[in-house]
Amino acid sequence: MNIGIFDSGIGGLTVFKEIDKSFPKANLYYIGDTARVPYGNKSEETIIRYSLELSEFLVKNFKVDVIVVACNTASSYAVDKIKNYLKIPVIDVITPGVLTAVTTTKNGKIGVIGTQATIRSKSYEKKLKELNPDFEVYSNACPLFVPLVEEGKIKGKITRLIIEDYLKNLVEKDIDTLILGCTHYPLLKEEISSLYPDINIVDSSALISDFIKKLNIFNEKNGERRVFITDSSPSFETLKNLLIPHLKFEKIDLNQICTL
Ligand code: DGL
Repeated sequence: MNIGIFDSGIGGLTVFKEIDKSFPKANLYYIGDTARVPYGNKSEETIIRYSLELSEFLVKNFKVDVIVVACNTASSYAVDKIKNYLKIPVIDVITPGVLTAVTTTKNGKIGVIGTQATIRSKSYEKKLKELNPDFEVYSNACPLFVPLVEEGKIKGKITRLIIEDYLKNLVEKDIDTLILGCTHYPLLKEEISSLYPDINIVDSSALISDFIKKLNIFNEKNGERRVFITDSSPSFETLKNLLIPHLKFEKIDLNQICTL
């Protein structure tokens, strides 16, 4: 199977890493739109257009059998549009996170953190409430988390202060489960858990491989892995080296992507 994965940047490599472990024989093609990141503060229209362009790149160049939208912001707005446009299975990162949270919560009080666009869309809240209208869902946008992670500041005093500031009002609501609704946030999981050891932390990449397996696409490939970015900068290397040190970025021209 050829699996296409995209994200607004390189945070989606947290999802790539999960899929890499579960599908050694599948070919994986990842594209991170580093020239246009962040998506989290863009309009719905722009997020959809960028997502369609990245998906089309993966289908045209690698004939992918499935697209994994490894970006919560794009997952919040673009999944149905990609399905309609390209007519292939599309997996988002929101549904697996929601299903995990449902099994971990005991008191039904669930916190969700993500980019401004993800929180504005209420994508997590809607899915959680569909499963159980009695859930109490408390959400917060944490815009500083993405730059912190991209700078490699995944631990330390400043990071802890920012975490505490963003999570204060969710913790006050007595949440027992916190969904990390952004690709970058799993890298802050250790610090968040050490500050709030009683809260179950749900990573948006959890269960993603199960969703791909359920598609029952069995054609074996040779395990090729290629990771593309639309702009290069030494700062992207920090995060990449934390996640996939053995792979190299291939830079592609944004003109190849901007087709819509
Ligand atoms: N990949 C985005 C997400 O998961 C975070 C970075 C951005 O704002 O583009 O929501």
